[in-house]
Amino acid sequence: MKIATVGKGGSGKTTIAGTLARLLAGDGHKVLAIDGDPNPNLALTLGMARDDADNINYIPPSIMEMKKDADGNLKLKMTCTEEELIKNYSASAPENIDLIVMGKPADGSAGSGCMCASHRAVRGVITEMSAYGEFTVTDMEAGLEHLKRGTAANVDTMLVVVEPYYRSLEAGARTASLSAELEIPNIFVVANKVKTEADRVAIDQFCEQHELSIIGYVPLEEQFIEAERQAQAPIDFDPKCAGTKAIYEIALKLAELDIEKRSLQPLPDKANAYARGFSDAKKEACTKK
Ligand SMILES: Nc1ncnc2c1ncn2[C@@H]1O[C@H](COP(=O)(O)OP(=O)(O)OP(=O)(O)O)[C@@H](O)[C@H]1O
Ligand SMILES: [Mg+2]
Repeated sequence: MKIATVGKGGSGKTTIAGTLARLLAGDGHKVLAIDGDPNPNLALTLGMARDDADNINYIPPSIMEMKKDADGNLKLKMTCTEEELIKNYSASAPENIDLIVMGKPADGSAGSGCMCASHRAVRGVITEMSAYGEFTVTDMEAGLEHLKRGTAANVDTMLVVVEPYYRSLEAGARTASLSAELEIPNIFVVANKVKTEADRVAIDQFCEQHELSIIGYVPLEEQFIEAERQAQAPIDFDPKCAGTKAIYEIALKLAELDIEKRSLQPLPDKANAYARGFSDAKKEACTKK
């Protein structure tokens, strides 16, 4: 399954993508995380140390080039093999996650602000790496410009992250309709930073009107804010908080969808490791009382 997080600036795309990747990997799935934001910061949310994150080799847009196929049609092709890409550019994040960072604008485009080659590279790498691991989780840049360029066209599951206020919801609806134009099969809203019942009702009503399907509600989580203050990954700062638990429920739904789609058997041992963690924590709390 190729998942991407999209949405308005600051809605929580990186928080959701990083935590989701960690939770899926913690359940024993092989995960490739892709930072597709020109201002990359997924590494820290995945739980990498700042020094390691600073030493990651960004993937140059020149990794993709146009080549003619056997029928003479121009196709975007990777200039190295999957293995070489992972060997030369991937960083190792906790839970055996491979992280690749697309980052920087195109070579030679300094000052022009042109991101075409970068967007093309993100799109190409997602397609080429689709056979790698069970899940790719791509953290996209904010806004719609890259969607118009089709950056996300090779994603199969779009998570549109929205906050409970009108402009964020409006942006979410526009993103979802562009994703639908790109014929992305699974488009879900993640309702993030939900604080009150009124927030929830506002999101429900908006999504019903716009025929958007909500995959989960993530509360406004103080622990996420504190994790950010202390420069830690939310999942490492407090793996049992309500925010992480809500993202875990989304991870389970996505894993289930993936199993149905690919007719796979659920993982026997490691699956639900975090769910077990949550119930153990509950038991512990009860015994302490
Ligand atoms: N559920 C939540 N509860 C509280 N704070 C949150 C929640 N989700 C995200 N945040 C906080 O909101 C801020 C923005 O989150 P994040 O960086 O994940 O958003 P983003 O959409 O990736 O932003 P950008 O568009 O700049 O890439 C961060 O300070 C993060 O800690
Ligand atoms: Mg971000």
